[in-house]
Amino acid sequence: MKAVRFDQYGEPAKVLAVEDLPLPEPGEGEVRVRVVASPVNPSDLSYVRGYYAGVHAEFPAPVGFEGVAVVDALGPQVKDLVIGQRVSVVNGQGGNWAEYAVVPAGDLFPVPEEFPDEQVASFVINPATAILMVRRVLAVPKGEWLLQSAAGSELGRMIIRLAGHDGIRTVNIVRRHEAVAELEALGADAVIVSTDAPIDGQVRGIVGPEGVKYAIDPVVGETGTQMFKALHEDGRMLVYGSLTGEPIRVGEDPRHILAGRRVLEVFWLGYWLPRLEDAERRQLARDITALMHEGIVETSPGHRYPLGEIGAAVEEAETTGKQGKVLLVPA
Ligand SMILES: NC(=O)c1ccc[n+]([C@@H]2O[C@H](COP(=O)([O-])OP(=O)(O)OC[C@H]3O[C@@H](n4cnc5c(N)ncnc54)[C@H](OP(=O)(O)O)[C@@H]3O)[C@@H](O)[C@H]2O)c1
Repeated sequence: MKAVRFDQYGEPAKVLAVEDLPLPEPGEGEVRVRVVASPVNPSDLSYVRGYYAGVHAEFPAPVGFEGVAVVDALGPQVKDLVIGQRVSVVNGQGGNWAEYAVVPAGDLFPVPEEFPDEQVASFVINPATAILMVRRVLAVPKGEWLLQSAAGSELGRMIIRLAGHDGIRTVNIVRRHEAVAELEALGADAVIVSTDAPIDGQVRGIVGPEGVKYAIDPVVGETGTQMFKALHEDGRMLVYGSLTGEPIRVGEDPRHILAGRRVLEVFWLGYWLPRLEDAERRQLARDITALMHEGIVETSPGHRYPLGEIGAAVEEAETTGKQGKVLLVPA
C-alpha cells in the first residue's frame, strides 16, 4: 500500500514522502480500515514539525490523525463492527495519510449514512473540540460573551454557529478584513480585525469596560497576549493551538497579574477524549451527529489531493485565506 511518512522533523512539504509498504495486519482488538479521505489539520503539520507535545514520532513515522474510512479486516476480539462499514477514524498515533491503516477498534466512530465523506472526514476533532470547550470546560452561560481568535478557521466557524445555537454572543478576531462579512453572515455578533487597533480596547468597546469572561485562543503570541488583557477580573481563557508559535505574555501589565483571578488554561482534545466515560463518548457522538444535521459543526470542503501530491496539499492547507479543509484522498 502507499503511505505518507517522514523520517525527521521539519517543514512538511520537504520531509513528507510517499512510500510503498506491506499491507498491515490487525492484531487483537484492532481493525484495518481502507482510508477514503483524511483532512490536513493544523495538528498534523505541528506534529511533522516536532511541535506537537502530546504525540512523539518514532521514525519513520506515519501521519494523519483523522479521516473517513471503510472497515476492511477485523482482528481477534473485535465486536460490533462489520467489514464494509463506513467509520470516522481518530488515529492517535497518526497513519491516516495512507491507503490502509490499523487502529484500535475503540478509535473508530460509526457514522450515519446520510453524511457525505467530506463531513465524516472531519467528524471528531473540530466538532468535539468546539462542543467540549464551549459546553463542558468553559460551560459558557446563555447570554454571555465568548471571545475567540482565528475565528475564520473551520473550528472558529463551528464555534460561531454553536454559540448562536446555545444563545451565547461571540466577539471574533480575524487577521484579514475580507473575513469580516463572511463571519457576520454566519451569525457572528461582532468581528474585529487584530491589526486595526489593540484587541483589548476593541473588545472592551463591545462587551463593556469590565472585559470578557470567556475566551478561547489558538493563535497565541501578540493576539493571545492582548486577549488575556481583555479578560474580566474573573475571566477564563483556554489556549488550544499555537498558530503563531510565539509565546503568550501574561505579566507585562501589572494591573492584569495582580488583580482579580484571571485563569489561563490549556485545552487539548488528546487529553479529554481518552478521559471520557463510554456513556459520555456515546453522548458526544450523538451531539455531533445532531449538530451536523443542523449544519452547526459542518466543515467546508476544500481541494482534494492524491497522496502523491502531498507537498502541494500541505502547502495549500497553510495558505492565508484558503477556502475549506484540504483533503487527502488515497484511492
Ligand atoms: N487543542 C485541540 O485539541 C485542538 C483541536 C482541534 C483544533 N485545534 C486548533 O484549532 C485551530 C483551528 O483549526 P482548524 O482545523 O479550524 O484550522 P483551519 O481551518 O486550517 O484554519 C486555520 C485558521 O487559522 C488562521 N491562522 C493561521 N495562522 C495564523 C496566524 N499566524 N495568525 C492568525 N491567524 C492565523 C487562518 O486565518 P486566515 O483565514 O486569515 O488564513 C485560518 O482561519 C488550529 O490551531 C488547531 O490546531 C486544536
